[in-house]
Amino acid sequence: MNLKGRSLLTLLDYKTDEIQYLINLAKRLKEEKRQGIPHRYLEGKNIVLLFQKDSTRTRCAFEVGAYDLGMQTTYLGPTGSQMGKKESVKDTARVLGHMYDAIEFRGYLQTDVMALSEFSGVPVYNGLTDLYHPTQILADFLTIQETFGTLKGLNFTYFGDARNNMGNSLMIGCAKMGMHFKAVAPKALWPRKELIEVCENIAKETGATLSFETDPLKGAKDSDIIYTDVWVSMGEAKDVWLKRIKELYPYQVSKDIMKAANKKAIFMHCLPAFHGLDTEVGQQIAMEFGDQYPTVKHGELEVTDEVIESKQSVVFEEAENRMHTIKAVMLATLSDDYE
Ligand code: CP
Ligand code: NVA
Repeated sequence: MNLKGRSLLTLLDYKTDEIQYLINLAKRLKEEKRQGIPHRYLEGKNIVLLFQKDSTRTRCAFEVGAYDLGMQTTYLGPTGSQMGKKESVKDTARVLGHMYDAIEFRGYLQTDVMALSEFSGVPVYNGLTDLYHPTQILADFLTIQETFGTLKGLNFTYFGDARNNMGNSLMIGCAKMGMHFKAVAPKALWPRKELIEVCENIAKETGATLSFETDPLKGAKDSDIIYTDVWVSMGEAKDVWLKRIKELYPYQVSKDIMKAANKKAIFMHCLPAFHGLDTEVGQQIAMEFGDQYPTVKHGELEVTDEVIESKQSVVFEEAENRMHTIKAVMLATLSDDYE
């Protein structure tokens, strides 16, 4: 397997065996880190981390991952660079490509991460755009593989806004890995038709299936994995909240949803999650809409506190795996000398 020089903009660009290879490489790097075996294969290399949106996990995963591999990092935050204000993405790409060995980008437009890749001449990693979040899916799948020993054939169920970056990327990932993807949401929040068609075609090759359901309890039935994400994504207008709460309140992942799933089902969430009153946004939403929606009063939106804190929840292992999988992506695309 040689992935040297490749960007990771969407999992659509990666074959099933390439995705499996990255997951297995991450598993190896995780074991090496646990055992204190150094793996500074990328000594002397530099990566720039471009963030137009906030981040805890993705930024930390890239930074710690880069340091473990012997690399140096530069962080450019939402207000820290000329990009988009006084300088085009195309010019920024060429400047950064002359200084760095790789670029990570989190931002608004998928077309921007594509332009960075086209014009920089170095591998570019998508750390989330409005369309896709591919590094998150690698971490999710490592976590699933660690739990069930396999990916193929598992019943993966996504509750919530299935048209967002997470819904899109999870559907692609499941199609690629031969999993049974089900989106449980009102019809208006199902993924767009064109992407479903693309994934149906991939599924024909891998044995995956795709299905779409509006009934929450029916949707949960037979699930091995119940996954959800925030109801309003970064970059969306604040006034979307009420509409989204109305649409998705019946799809909140509660104990009843988990009970309707398989006995050994796990709960996953890319995080950050709203499950209490200890965040500014959670408090604000509770104050504004809590009277109409009982659990929203407690700051519980896409998932109840009981579920995310339960034994079935693997969300913090999943968060740790961001780092191991991002390391695997950097290593595989920046070096072919690590066997
Ligand atoms: N899951 C995820 O991408 O988290 P951050 O927004 O903290 O990076
Ligand atoms: N859909 C979410 C994912 C956060 C990791 C967002 O874009 O805000």
